[in-house]
Amino acid sequence: MARTLKEIFKGFSKLNRKERLNALEESGVIESRDVDYLERGGMKDTSLGEKFIENVIGYFQIPLGVATNFRIDGKDYAIPMAVEETSIVAAASKTAKWIRENGEIKTEVIGSEIIGQIQCATVKNFALFESALLAQKKYLIEIANREVAFGLVRRGGGVTDMTVRRIPRGDGRDMAIVHVMMNPCDAMGANIINQVCEFLKEPIEQFTGEKVTMCILSNLVDTKITKAVIVLKGIASDLAEKIEEASLFAEQDPYRAATNNKGVLNGIDPILIATGNDWRAVEAGIHAFAARDGQYRSVTKWKREGDTLVGIFEAPLIVGVVGGVTTLHPTAALCMKMLGVTSANELSRVIAAVGLVQNLGALKALTTVGIIEGHMKLHIKNLTLGAGAQEGEVPIVQKKLEEILAIRKRISLSNAIEILNDLRASEQSPH
Ligand code: HMG
Repeated sequence: MARTLKEIFKGFSKLNRKERLNALEESGVIESRDVDYLERGGMKDTSLGEKFIENVIGYFQIPLGVATNFRIDGKDYAIPMAVEETSIVAAASKTAKWIRENGEIKTEVIGSEIIGQIQCATVKNFALFESALLAQKKYLIEIANREVAFGLVRRGGGVTDMTVRRIPRGDGRDMAIVHVMMNPCDAMGANIINQVCEFLKEPIEQFTGEKVTMCILSNLVDTKITKAVIVLKGIASDLAEKIEEASLFAEQDPYRAATNNKGVLNGIDPILIATGNDWRAVEAGIHAFAARDGQYRSVTKWKREGDTLVGIFEAPLIVGVVGGVTTLHPTAALCMKMLGVTSANELSRVIAAVGLVQNLGALKALTTVGIIEGHMKLHIKNLTLGAGAQEGEVPIVQKKLEEILAIRKRISLSNAIEILNDLRASEQSPH
């Protein structure tokens, strides 16, 4: 009988790669052909790469891991993470386990529209421009939906609204910006909103008598926000207090906020990459949202309520589950299948949850043992290989580095090189 994700994730980190793949197959989130594909090293044929980008010379491989123990809105997930940094997957899995045993993760998406922008760099009279555009708004929406966004309309989405913003140019004149609001359903929507805006250029020029200077989507999608909430019960009051203090630090100080948000993105970017989503767009949106009141702040907040710790993530997180790399790249398609999400909103909610969990894992380490201990414990292998250790030498160098870390609480590449040199010298010296 198939084992559940909860069952296969017990001790998952102690399994070897073959056993991990078998366990995932047993749980039904991947199939035997996916196991074969991953064992063969994923995609090798560069012809698909030629379709994605230009001047292709090969693939850049980064590791693909699985974060375990996630239960979000009552559903278990195997979270694919494509990332090169040590300790991210481990910290996400460990923190998800803590939450699973002592609390819950709830998520929601607020709003449904993405934003396209049409710029008229200088308008003679903003009020006239605005009234001319708004007088034709219904018609403009209608033709955009009929001629360009008809596929989305069929799925229940499409262009829904248009608004006009006045931006003073600083030279006494005005810039007019038209915002086109569109529900992209399960697509990320970049291509279609850009097409809609370019299509509207001509009619807008005709109705307003002004010149459109450029059309492009905005990544600051404050009209569609993804929210994740973690509630952790029975938490030690001193730990909860330290996490609350760390949260206040990131809310008030942009220097700390940048690092806090990097920690959140440690959880977000690897899923975006694994599922073939545009991580630059999401990053840009999150950072812009973090600075929306004029100061860069954290996108997460932690508050203690008695013996309960409550964390909130809120930011735009626009992703797609259809179209583009998501469906075309075989590894992305495999990751989407493993994740088992059925809509763009569900993917966005899962990603927000992992970002918030990752943030909690980092804050817990930072306010207790410090980041070095766990990070370095897992980084030892990198240092060992970086020093040039060969297969037979790796376990010996690793063990010595662990001993040094336990005593001095820090290690570096020079320690690894020194140990390796000593080891090689001792092997050469006559006894
Ligand atoms: P530990 O307590 O030594 O781990 O923590 P453990 O060996 O006791 O294992 C506990 C669980 O952790 C395991 O459960 C796994 O879920 C997971 P099990 O599978 O045994 O049932 N785990 C692992 N999973 C996969 N492979 C592994 C592995 N080891 C543990 N090898 C740990 C070790 C690193 C998890 C902990 O010290 C930790 O969470 N540290 C924080 C690390 C972190 O946040 N890293 C992110 C990068 S740092 C950064 O860039 C962001 C930052 O600047 C952000 C900010 O400032 O806010 C910090």
